Amino acid sequence: MPDNRIKEHPVLDFDRGKEIYFEFEGKKIKAYERETIASALYANGIHQFTESKKMHRPRGFFCAIGKCSSCIMKVNGIPHVRTCITPVEEGMKVERHSAQPEIPEIEPEPYPEPEEKEVEIAVVGGGPAGLSAAIVAAEFGGDVHLFDEGDSLGGQLVKQTHQFFGSHKAEAGTRGIDIGTDLLEKAKEMGVKIHHNATVLGYYPEMTLTVDAGGKLEIYHVKGIVYATGAIENYLAFENNDLPGIYGAGGVQTLMNEQGIIPGRKVLMVGSGNVGLIVSYQLLQAGVDVVEVVEAMPHIGGYQVHASKIRRAGVPINTRHTIVKAKGDYEVESAIIQELDEDWNPVPGTEREIECDIICIAVGLQPDNHFLRQAGCDIEFVRELGGFVPIRNKDMETTVEGIFVAGDAAGIEEATVAVLEGRLAGAAIIQRLYGTSEDTQKEKEKAREGIEQMRKGPYGQMPRRGVKVCTIDEEVC
Ligand code: FES
Repeated sequence: MPDNRIKEHPVLDFDRGKEIYFEFEGKKIKAYERETIASALYANGIHQFTESKKMHRPRGFFCAIGKCSSCIMKVNGIPHVRTCITPVEEGMKVERHSAQPEIPEIEPEPYPEPEEKEVEIAVVGGGPAGLSAAIVAAEFGGDVHLFDEGDSLGGQLVKQTHQFFGSHKAEAGTRGIDIGTDLLEKAKEMGVKIHHNATVLGYYPEMTLTVDAGGKLEIYHVKGIVYATGAIENYLAFENNDLPGIYGAGGVQTLMNEQGIIPGRKVLMVGSGNVGLIVSYQLLQAGVDVVEVVEAMPHIGGYQVHASKIRRAGVPINTRHTIVKAKGDYEVESAIIQELDEDWNPVPGTEREIECDIICIAVGLQPDNHFLRQAGCDIEFVRELGGFVPIRNKDMETTVEGIFVAGDAAGIEEATVAVLEGRLAGAAIIQRLYGTSEDTQKEKEKAREGIEQMRKGPYGQMPRRGVKVCTIDEEVC
């Protein structure tokens, strides 16, 4: 079996924990205790995790953060397990699904009565916005419980090896991974109760949450909620777009920068926004060849500084080009790209075949806020913020009193804005529950000023227009 784990990296050290073994379809597989099942399989050269229901087409992972169900497998006899967020364990038995897995014939254990708990503030999501909200609410004396379905917290920050831009007050010049670690440390220091591997399943009136805490159902009666579940990667329609080897840019980052596994040898990057450019650079850092970046727009979408870095490394960026087909029987072997005319139509005769084993899709994100819809919050489609977003006031409180939102779940913007919105929501929820104080007011004003600064730049214009549409108050940042 190959071992595709990164041995040396210019920025990152990988602490994988103890060596363990599990079984995949009768074969003994080496893994490390901090790996997920999907990454352990990937490290051993296994890229097909499941198959499609009707056509039995092979499927690999896509998002690697539990949001797309592309990686579901049978684990210890239980089907439909999201292997990208399930930690691997010694002796575990993992199998690929048949097209439509049968319900296992397992004698169910008597289900224990769910534990009911009363707490003050629940924060859903442990990325930059959720951690920041939790820290501020705890700083002001709140009893804060933070739920995240992953094993590690920090959201997208823990995959980001580059330094942030913006103002120094907003962590400019610091690497994303360091910001993520600092936020987590601070949350622990402030006494935030952190629940790992805890999926919030649903909202019930009045202010009740059900949580799957590692297979155990728990019920939380809360006084207020900050919802910060981030975003889902957008997908792209083209022929054969479901082959293993076609992954979201965030999925590739998770595999490479968090789990320390080389995604492939040659990558075609689709999309030249900041994510596409930064992930291209990170792939080069990990020793992977980025063959080309294609961009459907007539100009590069991200910062010139990121584009220049990868161009200097010899990676061509072709605007007005897109992918039209992936080739390969069981996984990607090459891609066909084509030029687009001014009306976005492919120009006949401009097709070109690119040899690659990974096609990385970096065509934007959309807010992940299903839970808010379930809770009855008013939602509106705002193109400038990436899709459907909750209507809120200037304190980030939704139309359901006591439910706040922050970060990408409120609209797609920079991670720095997510941190500041988290701080704003953290102070505002304390005010909602215990009344206004000079300090909470100051905290809110500071956060708003920071957001306003971030939205003054050229990349802030679009979100600035967007928040005007979905914010009830006249005064927005
Ligand atoms: S849910 Fe596992 S790859 Fe998306």
